[in-house]
Amino acid sequence: MHTSRRAFLRSATAGAAVPFFTPSILDTLERRLEAYGHPAPQTAATDEAFWSEIRAAYPKYAYINLENGFSSPEPAATFEAFQRHQQEINGGLSFYMRRKKAADDAAVKAQLAQLAGVPVEEIVITRNTTESLGTVTHGIDLAPGDEAVMCNQDYGSMLEQFRQQSRRRGLKCVEIAIPLLPRDDEEMVETYARAFTPRTKLLLVSHMVNITGQILPVRKIADMAHAHGVAVIVDAAHSFAHVNFTLPELDGDYLGASLHKWLCTPLGAGLLHIKKDKIKTVWPLFGDTARAEDDIRKLERIGTHPAWTTMAIGDAIRFHTMIGSARKEARLRYLQQYWTDKVRGIPKVYLNTPTGYRACGIANVGITGMTPAALATALFDKYNIFTVAIDTVAVKGTRVTPHLYTTTAELDAFVKAVGELARA
Ligand SMILES: Cc1ncc(COP(=O)(O)O)c(C=O)c1O
Repeated sequence: MHTSRRAFLRSATAGAAVPFFTPSILDTLERRLEAYGHPAPQTAATDEAFWSEIRAAYPKYAYINLENGFSSPEPAATFEAFQRHQQEINGGLSFYMRRKKAADDAAVKAQLAQLAGVPVEEIVITRNTTESLGTVTHGIDLAPGDEAVMCNQDYGSMLEQFRQQSRRRGLKCVEIAIPLLPRDDEEMVETYARAFTPRTKLLLVSHMVNITGQILPVRKIADMAHAHGVAVIVDAAHSFAHVNFTLPELDGDYLGASLHKWLCTPLGAGLLHIKKDKIKTVWPLFGDTARAEDDIRKLERIGTHPAWTTMAIGDAIRFHTMIGSARKEARLRYLQQYWTDKVRGIPKVYLNTPTGYRACGIANVGITGMTPAALATALFDKYNIFTVAIDTVAVKGTRVTPHLYTTTAELDAFVKAVGELARA
């Protein structure tokens, strides 16, 4: 056999995962951060020099981007690695898919499971939270008259999944209103508990409400639900890699997250976690009878999909770990409190987000007498600040989501704009 061909086959079938990162970009950044001496989260949170290093790793915008709730941009190291994975895989596509992909997928899954704090046998890499939770909602056995509890601040597509089960299988959807600014955890737990009946089978609960940023006491709610024999589906689209937690701390039976949000992967990466003893309760949407019913890989038979996106999850995890989950949470909460503390008290300005540990990077603000759309439009047209208007029955205001690359100077510009618009 030709030597170069032999060498290629040796490397391509080696089984070990390829390196998921670009040493040049990430190693340089890692070395630069070393100079800060691994600061404690609260110390790091206010260290603008530290965050300017991180800012340099993200794309530049022609406007002040305070709408990072839709999705996060990839930092340069992940973006570059993603492109390199595409190039490498495309350079031997079928060979890669047949001989290497399984090992690379397994390596990425192991990294993701470690980050989530759960066994690799309990996770699936999906495209997003919609797919993760849809796999559960549509894959679980439901009988006419079964009830599912959810709230009017849950994400629309998740509510739609339940409504569809209502049409298809006669599921009764019990949609409750939850307080915007709860007095304490018990008020929230009680609000959910009141909706339960002997027919309640499922509970959908958002860890972080997407339109306000409120963090719900999921563990306490899950404990209460389990005491009623109700299975818990956690929507962690916004909390995963944003606040510092591991999945067992929440104790949900099923959990979905979008990795392209706060983990900053390329678009189209998600996580589904199912507790080992619940895996058998979910039918694979696309059919798989080859695996045991308690083998989560039965849910991975989804057909051909972008292998390079899965690979880049590994690079994103390395970037995230380099910063540290606790430092990231501390910085994002600091940025949110930096601006909310300044606008609170301005006449006509109201906040739809609780204070303290009940929120992190996301918050929602409104101005009395101004529609959410008018506020978001004025912020962009007059001040070059991008936010998103939220106008639902439960919440009216504009959602403001800084990111790790946001500066306090940008937040000062936002606070000034809100003050001027409230006075106008
Ligand atoms: C709370 C929540 N759940 C689910 C989703 C859906 O995420 P994806 O579009 O990544 O599936 C979102 C998206 O913003 C969300 O905020």
